[in-house]
Amino acid sequence: MQKKIGIGLLGLGTVGTGIANIIKSPKGRNPLVSSIYIARIAVRDKQKQRSIEIDSSLVTTDPFEVVKDPNVQVVVEVMGGIEPAKSLILLAIQSGKSVVTANKAVIARYGKEISEAAIKNGVYVLIEAAVGGGIPIIEPLKQSLGGNRIQKVTGIINGTTNFILSQMTKEGGNYNDVLKEAQNLGYAEADPSADVEGHDAADKIAILSGLAFGGAINREKIPTKGISKLELTDIHYADKLGFEIKLLAIAENLSSKDVSNNTSVSLALRVEPTLVPREHPLSVVNGVNNAILIEGDPIGQVMFYGPGAGAGATASAVVADILNIVGIELIKKQDNSLDPLLSGISWRDCFLANTRDIPQKNYVRLITKDTPGVIGNIGKIFGINNVSIQSIVQFDSSDSKAEIIVITHEVSKGQISDSLAKIDSLKEVTKIATHLSCL
Ligand code: NAP
Ligand code: HSE
Repeated sequence: MQKKIGIGLLGLGTVGTGIANIIKSPKGRNPLVSSIYIARIAVRDKQKQRSIEIDSSLVTTDPFEVVKDPNVQVVVEVMGGIEPAKSLILLAIQSGKSVVTANKAVIARYGKEISEAAIKNGVYVLIEAAVGGGIPIIEPLKQSLGGNRIQKVTGIINGTTNFILSQMTKEGGNYNDVLKEAQNLGYAEADPSADVEGHDAADKIAILSGLAFGGAINREKIPTKGISKLELTDIHYADKLGFEIKLLAIAENLSSKDVSNNTSVSLALRVEPTLVPREHPLSVVNGVNNAILIEGDPIGQVMFYGPGAGAGATASAVVADILNIVGIELIKKQDNSLDPLLSGISWRDCFLANTRDIPQKNYVRLITKDTPGVIGNIGKIFGINNVSIQSIVQFDSSDSKAEIIVITHEVSKGQISDSLAKIDSLKEVTKIATHLSCL
């Protein structure tokens, strides 16, 4: 009989519990699920009440003990945070053990170092659960789309913020109440500011860009804006104008016309609340769902959609990675080679373009005096800066105040910010209430 492969589970929280539930009930699943068992588990607090029954002799509060345990052949890191997670992953690799991790914070910052260590030691580090929860997106980018030149990746890749925005838009929910609901459902990070301030999405777009464009991304340089300062007024105006506001993570190849340069690429990367036209496929992605729209040559557009967070969805991706490794371990018994497509490889330098050069359409809400010539003066400033206006509408004008909404055609971030600085100084403009990007 085939000997079972021992899994070392680092963490038994939302995701860890989801994984244990799958491993404990293999019936009706891929037969490989029956060939794995949980050999050791690390938690922070052994006394904590758990929703799953676990043999307490397997549990320790020392995660290094789990990695070093000779019964553990594959290390599954679902504890989160940077340290000790990063050191544990590197120790597993150096010990010749493959790793599965859902930790985008570590992979976005140390993915290159980890991938190089894995290749050197002939083991795998699989990260399907790190982006898009249950959606298969990592393996498609590494393998299925390998023949394409990728031009753009546009994603709704944070379940918590998408859940909050959907509930606020459709149900008129209060921001703090909806955030609490997302935390109770197990969607949010231990520190939810990573979700609402856009940092979780920035980690994920760094990982997707690295795979899509072939080189490591400087994570700390990604311009990032979250949803915590978004006003309900703008959600309502966007709705009136035929848009949904989504937290988008976008990576665009600005050098895609120059295919002769295969050694470096300039990328426009950003995470920010963005107006999405109702006819765009991303506008209907609601609740905890995520979606990633990939544009490539020759495939055109392909969209991956599904549950982006939560115990079951994330465990589904983690277990798929474990099964990939287990399948390879079984094959390796005859042939000792490493499958190059399952390991991450970097093959060129990826540079982040200057933020001022990032092209985008814009939504601007201005509070102005309701006097003759206001719209003319605003239009003149946009004209001088070569900013073409798609539409300009005045709402809720009263004797003293007008609210003007401008949607521009695509211009650079530099052009729009220069224009807004000048518009802000007009005496008839009380304030620029909101500036968002638009698809
Ligand atoms: P979680 O519910 O907070 O669980 C973390 C687990 O790790 C807990 O069991 C905790 O122990 C344990 N732990 C934390 N630090 C430890 C330490 N120093 N030593 C030993 N054990 C430690 O987190 P989660 O939501 O499952 O997320 C886990 C990872 O998956 C994170 O990297 C997250 O970004 C990623 N992820 C989560 C989701 C999601 O929907 N939740 C989706 C995709 C990816 P105690 O139980 O004793 O506190
Ligand atoms: N906190 C993350 C989210 C978990 O809300 O999308 C999934 O990565």
